[in-house]
Amino acid sequence: MSRETQVKDRAEQGPRNPGWAGETGDFPHLTESDVRGLEYVGLRPLDGGHPGASSSHPFHRAEKNPDAPLFEGPYKERLEKILSRYPEKRAALLPTLAMAQEIRGYLSAETMDEVAQALGLAPAYVRGVATFYTMYNKAPVGTYLIQVCTNVCCNLCGGDEVLEAFLDHVDAEPGEISEDGRFTVTAAECLGACGFPTVVQINERYFENVTPESVPEILASLRAQGTASVGQGSGVAQPATAPSDDAGED
Ligand code: FES
Repeated sequence: MSRETQVKDRAEQGPRNPGWAGETGDFPHLTESDVRGLEYVGLRPLDGGHPGASSSHPFHRAEKNPDAPLFEGPYKERLEKILSRYPEKRAALLPTLAMAQEIRGYLSAETMDEVAQALGLAPAYVRGVATFYTMYNKAPVGTYLIQVCTNVCCNLCGGDEVLEAFLDHVDAEPGEISEDGRFTVTAAECLGACGFPTVVQINERYFENVTPESVPEILASLRAQGTASVGQGSGVAQPATAPSDDAGED
């Protein structure tokens, strides 16, 4: 059976795994919204978010300010909390980079150098670490960073076609910002939700069982949200008011 036929068959069958079906198992007090909805991601626990949000780092805000100060005000406090969790500053590098990306949207060479200075590390060491991990953006991204899983499970179920559909609809190359500034589409390695292919992460939020046919609807819903972060409803926190997180950096 050809790949085209397989993908077409799958599209006709609909999602094989329905994903969330209201089954909460041992946690009947949780609602779908708690587990997967907007309540789950976007707000840190001390800011009223679900504790599970700590697993959704690094945050990708819809509004980004590449010139925002890195370690001032609440972010200075956050850095101190991060540092207090580790025996040496070097061990705090990953969460500090994640925080820098949360503030500025991506890690420029200058940002990496600022992080190096704050942690007393060699700039080359910090750049080596930051460029190793794909979760750190090394270039600016659009309001919505759309990461399409093209790893094995999703690939077998049409991940490449979903990626192609997103790129076609936003009219941009992989990694580019679309002309309206809203979207950047990239291919991602396994997003850890292999039972629900194709999986797409948009800012903090996961979309599961995505097909090429569902792409226009997803993009339309994002456009309708304006600049609100996918995971945050309308409450986009600014660096100056960022909450000091006690649960999210490790
Ligand atoms: S292969 Fe796509 S989420 Fe794992």
